[in-house]
Amino acid sequence: MIDLIILAIWLMLPAYIANPAAALLGGGKPIDLGKNFTDNKRILGDGKTIRGFVLGSLSGIIIGLLQIWLAPSIAPYLAGYVSGDMLMNVSYIAVFTMPVGSLLGDMVKSFFKRRLGFERGAMWPIADQLDFVAGAWVLTFLFDSAWFMANFSLAIIIIVIIITPVLHVATNIIGFKIGKKNVPW
Ligand code: CTP
Ligand code: MG
Repeated sequence: MIDLIILAIWLMLPAYIANPAAALLGGGKPIDLGKNFTDNKRILGDGKTIRGFVLGSLSGIIIGLLQIWLAPSIAPYLAGYVSGDMLMNVSYIAVFTMPVGSLLGDMVKSFFKRRLGFERGAMWPIADQLDFVAGAWVLTFLFDSAWFMANFSLAIIIIVIIITPVLHVATNIIGFKIGKKNVPW
């Protein structure tokens, strides 16, 4: 079980990093440029910024590249849990699609949040926690389905769906405490 949890976190890390990185490094011009949709509500809202998207994506990509480079040195330490083959089975496409997809998923979520009348930062349980997982998986599946199928077994998918909301809430509470998030979700 612990082996699957380690592997799940390893596989998701570039996507996981993108969100807190966007929160830490984001700000400035909103992606929707302040414009409203046909319902006279913001398209995405001030919580989705160009800088957050770009720097959040880059942070995830950098983490993914570090994982690729460091896998051979990290593998021996995790040998009792995860096979080195699993850690080293990486894809340069996925390193890109996991973080970018995660922030795209987050944007799609915000689009629907605004349509439903939720203010920026309002809580939308489940969607707030799994939006970026869905985005990362969809984009990765579209661009590298072979890698996705080889790594995301049903067991890994279930573990990710269970541990992500827990990890997400934990990081958001930290973000709130250090003043980087307006609300603890
Ligand atoms: N952020 C950003 N750009 C992004 C994504 C996030 O700048 N593309 C920053 C914003 O400062 C945002 C914070 O990260 O407030 C937290 O992100 P999130 O919780 O996804 O946004 P919310 O402010 O809660 O907005 P929403 O209601 O649209 O989810
Ligand atoms: Mg939020």
